[in-house]
Amino acid sequence: MRILIHENYDTLSKWVAHYIAGKINRAKPTKENPYVLGLPTGSSPVGTYKQLVQLYKEDKVSFENVVTFNMDEYVGLAEDHPQSYHYFMWHHLFDHVDIKKENVNILDGNAKDLDRECDQFEQKIKDAGGIDLFLGGIGPDGHIAFNEPGSSLSSRTRIKTLTYDTQVANSRFFDNDVNKVPKTALTVGVGTVMDSKELVIIISGYGKARACQKVVEEGVNHMWTVSMLQLHRRGMIACDEEATMELKVGTVKYFKDIESEALRKLPSLS
Ligand code: GLP
Repeated sequence: MRILIHENYDTLSKWVAHYIAGKINRAKPTKENPYVLGLPTGSSPVGTYKQLVQLYKEDKVSFENVVTFNMDEYVGLAEDHPQSYHYFMWHHLFDHVDIKKENVNILDGNAKDLDRECDQFEQKIKDAGGIDLFLGGIGPDGHIAFNEPGSSLSSRTRIKTLTYDTQVANSRFFDNDVNKVPKTALTVGVGTVMDSKELVIIISGYGKARACQKVVEEGVNHMWTVSMLQLHRRGMIACDEEATMELKVGTVKYFKDIESEALRKLPSLS
């Protein structure tokens, strides 16, 4: 697992956006052979999306032959609700780049048959040839997508009940009223995320420092579902200094040293 410690959220976001754009460009995607991205919502990826939009505007990357699959969606929120993940994705990324609507896949939290919706999502990922790069964030409790503590580490896309912790954490988007936060969500499973060819997890801010310590310095554990990253063949954590506050000094020094070359400049776009 690679751990890249960036100075702050802005430098992290720029680096990750360049990394992703470079991957898309080098894959030379076509209609028949698109580049498949897994994408998260939340505040963690907002800076990266902003940078990707900027790179698109500068003609340095195109999403024309990119297919996307989002990690999760609340159950029961209308798609045009400002806190739905549909709304979030169009608002922060898709409306500003040349992605084709039919290439965007987001779970439908209003589907009549939610189990069927989840199964179909898994099938769609398979039909697209699997996910080339899954970008993710984490909750303060180390959950990835909505795979809350105790989730099966081989889980697939399904409906999940959100923990009270997560409802409180996300209430900041719902007028700080925990009662307004949906209680359930559809989410890809840990197994779904692990099947991706590459996995990049953004961990930013002191609020995530404990989870960062668990995934970097402790073992794989279902109570911190992101810790499965340790078993991914191509897993990377892109974090900022604040997120490393609970790590040992030696751990921070070690990863800064071995990644110094990668951190010295932005990843190549070609
Ligand atoms: C939600 C999402 C996760 C996301 C997490 C962290 O729980 N389901 O995918 O990683 O929020 O959000 P933020 O980046 O806003 O801290």
